Amino acid sequence: MTGSVVHCLAPAKLNLFLHITGRRADGYHLLQTAFQLIDRCDSLDIARRDDAIIRRTNEVAGVPEQDDLIVRAARLLQKHTGSQSGADLTLHKLLPMGGGLGGGSSDAASTLIALNHLWQCGLTRQQLMDLGLQLGADVPFFLFGRNAFAEGVGEQLQEISSADCWYVVIEPGVQVPTPAIFSAKELTRNTKRVKITDFSSAVKKNWKNDLQTVACSLYPQVNEAVTWLKKFGDARMTGSGACVFCDFFDEDSANEVLRQIPGHWKAWKAKALKQHPMTHLVQM
Ligand code: C5P
Repeated sequence: MTGSVVHCLAPAKLNLFLHITGRRADGYHLLQTAFQLIDRCDSLDIARRDDAIIRRTNEVAGVPEQDDLIVRAARLLQKHTGSQSGADLTLHKLLPMGGGLGGGSSDAASTLIALNHLWQCGLTRQQLMDLGLQLGADVPFFLFGRNAFAEGVGEQLQEISSADCWYVVIEPGVQVPTPAIFSAKELTRNTKRVKITDFSSAVKKNWKNDLQTVACSLYPQVNEAVTWLKKFGDARMTGSGACVFCDFFDEDSANEVLRQIPGHWKAWKAKALKQHPMTHLVQM
């Protein structure tokens, strides 16, 4: 029944800064952010089926099959292209949910890339990005494939070069629901827009995440992690939380911080990636 199999990586992202600059009529927020890919990944095995059945082959704690973005991504591509093929999707989850690392969005993007290839749909990168936006605001970035300065709701992307550094990431042990952070009354939504040309290391120290104040007040565990990691550098939250990160020049410095991490947190290091590990499968 099944044909070719693709082993897929779905990397995490960090938001190096995240500014909320306004709100659209539909409630979605206008933002500016810098997306950085890192080498901490979920992985998927995706097998093409000759019938049109799409199914997830394994249980994923907390995510029913029908709600899973990988299943929704496969169905969306099948509907959009009229493909007669199906897929068996096996998801190996490493990235935490409600962590601000874009795990679910990245899983969906890798599914679209793999099935566009396996089903020979022939969609271009831009067509995949347009489709991906229907699944979530972060999905187009993972299809774009490079580190990016993003505007709009996150779908207007321009490539940026990134530092060749290491990150220490703390998982504070809570799942932060993104809608609750974005809809909080106290959220400031009027940060002055910056230009991509402002985006130099000279202003790096002013980078902030506008969602962090709200997340820290609703989830003291996030605040505790930021406060602790700030001892070592310019620590901040990624996305709508809960994860907190800090950059380091080399791997040894990251290891030194990891040695000191209090036992109640899960923490790890990751290296900055220059590009998405599956980007070669996407045609312009
Ligand atoms: O697009 P995604 O499913 O990742 O967004 C989750 C929720 O986060 C949305 O339902 C919305 O409440 C909020 N959001 C927003 N503005 C954005 C991105 C997300 O208000 N640019």
